Amino acid sequence: MNIDRDKLSPMMKRYFQIKDNYPDCLLFFRLGDFYEMFFDDAVTASRVLDLTLTGRDCGLAERAPMCGVPYHAVDNYIRRLIENGYRVAICEQLSDPATSKGLVDRDVVRVVSSGTVMEEDILDEKTSNYLCSIFTNSSTFGIAWTDISTGEFNVYEYSAEDYLERLSNILGSIAPSEIICNEDFVSKYQKVKYFVSNEKRAHCYHDFAYNVSTATRKILSAFKIGSLDVFELTHKNAAVCAAGGLLEYLAQTQKRSLGQLTKISYLRDKSFMMLDNATRRNLELTQRARDGKRQGSLLWVLDKTSTAMGARTLKRWIEQPLQDADAINKRLDALEDLMSSKALRERLGESFYSVRDLERLNGRLAYGNASPKDLLSISDTLEAIPQIKQLLSGATSTLVKGINRSLYSLENVCATLQSALDRDGVSSYKNGGYVKKGYDDTLDQLRDIKTSAKEWLAQLEAQEREETGIRTLKVGYNKIFGYYIEVSKSFVDKVPYRYQRKQTLVNGERYITDELKQLEEKILSAESNATALEDKIFCELKNMCFENLAKLQSNAQALSTLDCLVSLANVSVANKYVKPEINKKIKCIDIVEGRHPVVETLLDRGSYVPNDTLLDDADNRTMIITGPNMAGKSTYMRQVAIITLMAHIGCFVPAKSAKIALTDRIFTRIGASDDLSGGQSTFMVEMIEVATILNYATSSSLLVLDEIGRGTSTFDGLSIAWAVLEYITKNIKAKTLFATHFHELTELEDLEGVKNYRVLVSRANDTIVFLHKIVSGGASQSFGIEVASLAGVTKSVIDHAKSIMHSLEEDSKNRDTNEMLLSSAKKNVTAQVSLFDTQSSKIEQQIRDLDVDNLTPLQALTVLCDLKKQLED
Ligand SMILES: Nc1ncnc2c1ncn2[C@@H]1O[C@H](COP(=O)(O)OP(=O)(O)OP(=O)(O)O)[C@@H](O)[C@H]1O
Ligand SMILES: [Mg+2]
Repeated sequence: MNIDRDKLSPMMKRYFQIKDNYPDCLLFFRLGDFYEMFFDDAVTASRVLDLTLTGRDCGLAERAPMCGVPYHAVDNYIRRLIENGYRVAICEQLSDPATSKGLVDRDVVRVVSSGTVMEEDILDEKTSNYLCSIFTNSSTFGIAWTDISTGEFNVYEYSAEDYLERLSNILGSIAPSEIICNEDFVSKYQKVKYFVSNEKRAHCYHDFAYNVSTATRKILSAFKIGSLDVFELTHKNAAVCAAGGLLEYLAQTQKRSLGQLTKISYLRDKSFMMLDNATRRNLELTQRARDGKRQGSLLWVLDKTSTAMGARTLKRWIEQPLQDADAINKRLDALEDLMSSKALRERLGESFYSVRDLERLNGRLAYGNASPKDLLSISDTLEAIPQIKQLLSGATSTLVKGINRSLYSLENVCATLQSALDRDGVSSYKNGGYVKKGYDDTLDQLRDIKTSAKEWLAQLEAQEREETGIRTLKVGYNKIFGYYIEVSKSFVDKVPYRYQRKQTLVNGERYITDELKQLEEKILSAESNATALEDKIFCELKNMCFENLAKLQSNAQALSTLDCLVSLANVSVANKYVKPEINKKIKCIDIVEGRHPVVETLLDRGSYVPNDTLLDDADNRTMIITGPNMAGKSTYMRQVAIITLMAHIGCFVPAKSAKIALTDRIFTRIGASDDLSGGQSTFMVEMIEVATILNYATSSSLLVLDEIGRGTSTFDGLSIAWAVLEYITKNIKAKTLFATHFHELTELEDLEGVKNYRVLVSRANDTIVFLHKIVSGGASQSFGIEVASLAGVTKSVIDHAKSIMHSLEEDSKNRDTNEMLLSSAKKNVTAQVSLFDTQSSKIEQQIRDLDVDNLTPLQALTVLCDLKKQLED
């Protein structure tokens, strides 16, 4: 639609002035009880929200397309728009339409996007909601992410050749709802793998916000600090730029100070175990790989938290395992402490009943949109604290003692809130009535007037009926005319002179009298005074809480940590987990009777077969695991990885005993996962993951490689698997678990540090029984056909497969191709050269020397014959 702005009505002119500042947002323009959208915004919103598109005169020949949503139900519409990737700019009336002359003043008070949601109904309570800002230049990235609903604010920077790879992994662990970035990043967007499988787009934000000096100033003023040293950010320019960009974006969109942001945490490189996205997915840490469901993940087993903030913390712990042995052992000691008393855990659990999501309540309090109900929730939480402190008083572990010290009862705050707020009243606070009777005398008096008013009006009605003799006379009220006396048509001639007519209806008239007028004034002023007074009381209560924000935040953190620890302690007791030994001196992964925490939960109790594991930095670096399909190879390898990870979270582990070396990173290459949307085939994905492992694994890493090379032809696959395994064992020296159906690979046991293992099965008649037990030695058979038969594949197909296999076996005996391949590979083992420059054989040299251009066809044939003969010799 072509819009001549000069011709627009004044209100529409103002609309466009505002809209110009928010071109990327849908503008919700407040008109009375509605938010209206116009022109393109209206067309978009009506489609997404399924609203009727109407029109409104705007000064032009054509009416402006328009649609609207009622203000009291706006959250739901905003949620749907955000879910569809839109941002919403909320434009309010800044002056009171009733009292202002001319055009009502309007402006945007806030922009809501998926990363800046504060509304309880829109947020997922068990997931942090991160807004993330990325700054990149040639080989560095800085990243800042915050959850403004809780006040968490982190930054990280990294500089090295693989920075985009690292960025991808960090993004995978944060899973931000919204991403902003500097312009430089836009050109790299496609190169960050995270975005291949996540639709989330990064939207470019002003470069000026990412300028170091602007960013520095922004941080200093936002956190009211004098130097970046306070947050250890001096010389961390990329992190500073990312944080500055983020703060600028928040200032522009939120238009208020965000008191919930009290500090920036800089994540040190060595603080957390790196988990790449493939590993997070393969180990099914927080969701099942197949369908993204929480059920069936490690989080699902470990999360028995009572509060939403505890659940969010636990998820963070799982996604960011620690690297610092002291920090890990603090958690382990705390668990041990809590596990020692069942009664203690039970009573703590009971105390948690009244603990609400204090972290987000604090967020809303600081943001300025806390409701009376929120304040009551804060006081409910505070009420639980004295008892919790009492329960923790006997604690022996450093962490739990620290939690106890960080808990503040704030008795006065709690008591004031409890005495002020009415539990039934707070849920419908918009109509007032949430302040308890007895809290404020004036308020009670004003309310008395309201209650008495009913009696007065009834009295007045009776009195008027009596005086006039009109039996059907009624006293009523409506918003526009206020109180009135209604008389039906047939009695109108009986109306006394003192009645003043106000409104004519079809079958009656409405009047007012002086007495009614006075009464009305008294009632209405009492009502508005009561509302104003309630507002004032509410503000005082909010201020009282806000003054204690630091202590409330400390409580939130302590309670969520405690909730998390109690949950892990309960799970550890229920599932018979043990305390792992983990410290700098331990160099091995030595697990006795380890179990897979998720698989064992899904099986009947006691039917999971435990297995031992020994990996060290000498003779037992690499386990090659062979065995039939369905035997349990993949499960076993994941089990070792998950137990290692659990130990780094500071959690007890499913085993009889476990010693776990500090591990810098767990790499996994498991199963075939197509990435067709990302334009990569199964084999390509597999090889990219292998390349990552070879590039970045260290001797302190744990590698889980499941059937490397199965996505291509047997020879290619076997060759790649062989070469990869040999490279890892000789050069990287990482602890490695390697499952394969290429039984030829068992020959690699000749290498230092490699050990063969197989999974036991027993064979009875024509079928096999899985024992799921890992023992020393290599397997020689895969029993693939037997497994297919067990799976119910048609008998004729099975029989055919058997006969094909039989003839293949005969064939291979004759030609011994496998032997050939093996021997050539093994020669390389001793020759210490890569598998792929096979000995420049004599034959190869002869071919190289040929002058093809000067060869007759006959000569060519003779040469070929000669070569073939040499080969056969
Ligand atoms: N230790 C165990 N105790 C009991 N059941 C187990 C155990 N390990 C595995 N299983 C069961 O066996 C099933 C198959 O295991 P898994 O997928 O690990 O086999 P696999 O050897 O990797 O097979 P494939 O070679 O076909 O990939 C699992 O789904 C699980 O139900
Ligand atoms: Mg497997």
